[in-house]
Amino acid sequence: MNEKRAWWKESVVYQIYPRSFQDSNGDGIGDLNGIRQRLDYLKELGVDVIWLSPVYQSPNDDNGYDISDYQAIMGEFGTMEDFDGLLAEIHERGMRLVMDLVVNHTSDEHPWFVESRSSRDNPYRDYYIWREPAEQNAAPNNWASRFRGSAWEYDPATGMYYLHIYSRKQPDLNWENPKMREDIYRMMRWWGDKGIDGFRMDVISMLSKDQRYPDGVCRDGNPYGDGLPYYGNGPRIHEFLKEMNREVLSRYDWMTVGEGVGVGAKEALQYAGYDSDELNMMFHFEHVELNPGPYGKWNDNRADLRELKAVLSRWQTELEGKAWNSLFWDNHDYPRSVSRFGNDSPRYRELSAKMLAVCLYMMKGTPYIYQGQEIGMTNCGFRDLKDYRDIEIARVYEEMVGGGLVSHDEMMRYINHTGRDNARTPMQWDDTPHGGFTTGTPWIRENPNYVDINVKEQMGRKDSVYTFYRELIALRRESDLIQYGTYHLLLPEDENLFVYRRELDGEKLLTVCNFTDREQTFTWQEGWGTEGQVLIANYADNRKPTHGTLRPYEAIVWKWT
Ligand code: NOJ
Repeated sequence: MNEKRAWWKESVVYQIYPRSFQDSNGDGIGDLNGIRQRLDYLKELGVDVIWLSPVYQSPNDDNGYDISDYQAIMGEFGTMEDFDGLLAEIHERGMRLVMDLVVNHTSDEHPWFVESRSSRDNPYRDYYIWREPAEQNAAPNNWASRFRGSAWEYDPATGMYYLHIYSRKQPDLNWENPKMREDIYRMMRWWGDKGIDGFRMDVISMLSKDQRYPDGVCRDGNPYGDGLPYYGNGPRIHEFLKEMNREVLSRYDWMTVGEGVGVGAKEALQYAGYDSDELNMMFHFEHVELNPGPYGKWNDNRADLRELKAVLSRWQTELEGKAWNSLFWDNHDYPRSVSRFGNDSPRYRELSAKMLAVCLYMMKGTPYIYQGQEIGMTNCGFRDLKDYRDIEIARVYEEMVGGGLVSHDEMMRYINHTGRDNARTPMQWDDTPHGGFTTGTPWIRENPNYVDINVKEQMGRKDSVYTFYRELIALRRESDLIQYGTYHLLLPEDENLFVYRRELDGEKLLTVCNFTDREQTFTWQEGWGTEGQVLIANYADNRKPTHGTLRPYEAIVWKWT
């Protein structure tokens, strides 16, 4: 085996979006005590690590990704005492807790920003990025906010603009300022000393901005320019992360995973290479951003399987022996994978959800499961714009429909396909009102299919998606081959099948997945081992993959020596 073992390589992570997971006090908003009620459920599923999306104090312009106090808990979610109880109960069960670290920006209600905007010579002025207006009082450059519109906001109090790559209530921190960096590191150590087990780092690749602030190219129907080439993987990013590692990360036995907006496999080696002294892993988005349309992410296209295979396989091979992959289909920023890469019709939803699980979680890397994925939750497809809550959806609708770029109907199709709220509807626990999520009125409508698709129904059924996830997680845990084996893509040109081999110390494994709703012929090739065993399969008869045809969405894992 050419890999060094590490607990975070052998873990399965479960992401909780607290607002939508479990409400315990009937206010319609998920909370920390709600999570505590569900810890036994997570333990039984078999996950090792819980990643909590932000729970810090926040005015919730972007559901907690706009923090106004890093060392306080959001009132709607509970108290610091509740948090301490949660952490202790997670540890009692032998699980770990990873928090979200959002340090590219704060809320505009954070005391640092309140100070910063109050005068040009305030000691906190340089904690943020202020620039003089360009000619005729225009913004300093043409960068687009990632939520549409300009990334600059004019502040009349001091007659200057501040940068906000997300909403105007999320001003960007100035990482050029060493004092600001020291304050962030101090805050991270405070959480470390409380006993948390690591951080998922929000848009970490965006901390260092090109200090010349050049205009970006306008594309995807956006009247503003793309600043990513100047703030993604910026000039000092690795210096900052090495410093963070020295000052904080190296002092704890942590798992760290960076959100790598604009990060390709080559760049990932710099952030998370085994000798980089920065982070453990990166999230990349290449596989969930395939096949963009003329308006970028706002489209209703399906990905081409050959491209999907090429992207995922490139990450597998380029990181081999040098860095560690993170494996995810779903999170709170993307639509539900079963609706997007599988098939959410009643006939194929369960089969295709299981097939997707096999396909990704038999690869090398740390699996991340997003709440509800383990029961095959689907996109919500709300027809009325008013049912959506996401600031990004509101913004893009305003700009694209308001600006006459697309019609209402077209935009609704795109929102139903790629909008973030698809993943943010309440967790479906049972078939009681609101799916058992709350006794009050949920902050966002539930998906009406909770009556059929819910945890309670699936826990009691041997062939459910939930039971399948449990088996898959248990299988990974027992197997060095699955955790550490090398990866090799087979049949790269096949448009319908995803087939790959894993290998470790003479043991071999073949994963075969049919991504279509049709039978596909499959030719067994020499050297693929005719003797062996089926490790897991999503059709009940567990037959050998040598059979000649694969049924719709069939997935089989075959092991031999
Ligand atoms: C990425 C987060 O995952 C997303 O939800 C958020 O809107 C942005 N970063 C800004 O923090």
